[in-house]
Amino acid sequence: MSHHGEGGYKLEVRDLSLEMEGGTILDSVNLGIQEGEAFCILGGSGAGKSMLLRTLVRLHEPTTGEVFLDGSTICDLDPSDLRRRVSLVQQSPAMLEGTVEENLMFGLRLADVPEEEARTRVREAMTRASLDPSFLDRRAEKLSGGERQRVAIARAYAIRPQVLLLDEPTAALDPRTTREVERAILGLKEAANLTMVIVTHDIEQARRLGDRTILLRRGRVVAEGDSASLLEDLDPEERARYLGELDKRHEDEREGDACE
Ligand SMILES: Nc1ncnc2c1ncn2[C@@H]1O[C@H](COP(=O)(O)OP(=O)(O)OP(=O)(O)O)[C@@H](O)[C@H]1O
Ligand SMILES: [Mg+2]
Repeated sequence: MSHHGEGGYKLEVRDLSLEMEGGTILDSVNLGIQEGEAFCILGGSGAGKSMLLRTLVRLHEPTTGEVFLDGSTICDLDPSDLRRRVSLVQQSPAMLEGTVEENLMFGLRLADVPEEEARTRVREAMTRASLDPSFLDRRAEKLSGGERQRVAIARAYAIRPQVLLLDEPTAALDPRTTREVERAILGLKEAANLTMVIVTHDIEQARRLGDRTILLRRGRVVAEGDSASLLEDLDPEERARYLGELDKRHEDEREGDACE
C-alpha cells in the first residue's frame, strides 16, 4: 500500500517511530520541511538526532510511520537513487585515501556523471563550500577538522542532491573553525532550491543557520518553531531543563577544546 504526502512539502515525516533492541529511539515524529528551507534538529546527546537523519535515507527502516520526498513515500525509491536525491554528511565523515579532488570525483563517477561535467561540478562545489581550488591537490587524510568537514560538504553538494542532511557539522571544532564551516553552510543556502536539514546541539547555531528548528528529546519532538523563538512557548521550568541538557554537552566540548 502506498500513501501520499500532503501539504506540498519537499520532505515530510509522518508518525515515524523506530524501535530497536534497546527500546524506543524515535517516537511518533512528524515533520514538514519546505523546499529551499534550512531546517534544524536540535537536541542533547542521545536524543535520536543521528538516527532520525539515518532513517531519512533508509539506513534504518522505521518501525511505524512513513517518509515522503516530493509527496511520494521513500519506500518506493531505490536506495541509491534516494541517496542521490537526499545526501547525508555523517557526523564524522570518512575520506578516501587520496586527494580532495579524487574524493569529490569518486562519487560523481559512481553516479555516472561525465568527466567534464564532473570537473565543473567539483569546482562549483569547492566555491560553495568556501574552499580555495588549491585544496583539490591536498591529501584528504592530512586535512584539518574544519577543512575535512567542508570537503565532506562539498563532496555531498557535488552530487547535486535536492536535500542535504548535515549531522553535527561543527561538533568537534573550535569556535573559529565552526564559523568557517557555518559560512560554508550559509553559502549553500544561496543555491537555488536546495533543502537542508542540519543537526546540532547548539541553540545559537540553530539560530544562525536555521529558518525553523525542532527540539528533539528522547526521540520525541518537544518544541517546534522559527529558530529565533523556538523555546518561547515552553513553560519556564521546562525551558530551563532543556537548555540545561543542551548546555551540558556544550560545556563538555569547551573543556575538550581547552585541552588541545
Ligand atoms: N544501532 C543501534 N542500535 C540500538 N540503539 C542505538 C543504535 N544506534 C544508536 N542507538 C541509540 O539510539 C539513541 C539515539 O542515538 P543517536 O545516535 O541518534 O543520538 P544523537 O542525538 O545523535 O546523539 P549525539 O548528539 O551524541 O550524536 C541512543 O540512545 C543510542 O544509544
Ligand atoms: Mg548524533
